[in-house]
Amino acid sequence: MSADIVRPRVWVSRPLFDDILARLREHFDVAVENADRDWTREQMAQKLCDKSGAILGVADPVDASVLAHAPLLRAVANRGVGYNNLDIAALTQAGIIATNTPGVLDETVADFAWALMLATARRVTEAERYLRDGKWQGMSFHILLGGDVHGRTLGIFGMGRIGRKIAQRASGFRMPVIYHNRSRLAPELEQECNARYVDRDMLLREADFVVLAVPMSTETQHLIGGPELALMKHDAFLINIARGGVVDDMALIAALRDRRIAGAGLDVFEREPAVPAEMLALDNVVLTPHIASASLATRRRMASLAVDNLIAALGYGPDAGRPPNRIEAGSAR
Ligand code: 8YV
Repeated sequence: MSADIVRPRVWVSRPLFDDILARLREHFDVAVENADRDWTREQMAQKLCDKSGAILGVADPVDASVLAHAPLLRAVANRGVGYNNLDIAALTQAGIIATNTPGVLDETVADFAWALMLATARRVTEAERYLRDGKWQGMSFHILLGGDVHGRTLGIFGMGRIGRKIAQRASGFRMPVIYHNRSRLAPELEQECNARYVDRDMLLREADFVVLAVPMSTETQHLIGGPELALMKHDAFLINIARGGVVDDMALIAALRDRRIAGAGLDVFEREPAVPAEMLALDNVVLTPHIASASLATRRRMASLAVDNLIAALGYGPDAGRPPNRIEAGSAR
């Protein structure tokens, strides 16, 4: 390529695996951030003012106020499946392609939902703190008594790809599965997951584990708040691997503090990375920093797919003009 050809400029908002970045560099002038940080809309506008494309994290906001300062922008590739950070209507109106990374993280996120169920019911992190704090003075029959997982009822909100993978893992634990979803699954999918469709309130009343696997949208904002927590059993657990805003954190803190439910396992929070001090003070909650998809292999697959999407969206590579995971206008997360 002759030196005077100007290559499109691309911004990568967070560190990415070097070998995967190298594929972007084959086509573009790439500016990569070398540390993770959360970006304000003003900073996003500044970074994108001279870029044709970007690889973004799922917390990096793009809306009309950002786009007003990004006249060259043609594509944004989210490095994640959720895309509630993107205003899809504004992007579509500006003729900008948006993509995400569905499919490659389902099994890993489903594994993590189970990790949280087991850790929460069996008090794993609390037990480890007890041991590390030097409180273990000898065998005791009565310490750290938890709830069983096997044989209890698993209730899943959101039966998309991830919800179904969570359901499929239940058979080894001999757990009946109930679910609630915007629309009921086709009979063959229900059979594949061995899951029974119930209405929202019945799920809350019957489930011993209420697992949230819904996308974030105006419909799912505070899906679980005070009234919903009040319907849950006193010995039930809430697990959130979806998005923070799906749960009203303050209502959950009150329910956990008053032992109105037995416990919660949370990978996501309303104001990440801030976690309320009242939450940190509770011992009946397992807290993790938004890592449900964080196995090395899966994070590499996500990064690679985001790069494939951006290359194609900007008109290069084997899928030029046809990025594999274009987000359709009208879909909201
Ligand atoms: C994050 C996620 O992308 O894919 C999503 O929507 O929330 C996660 O997989 C990941 O944790 C990086 O922030």
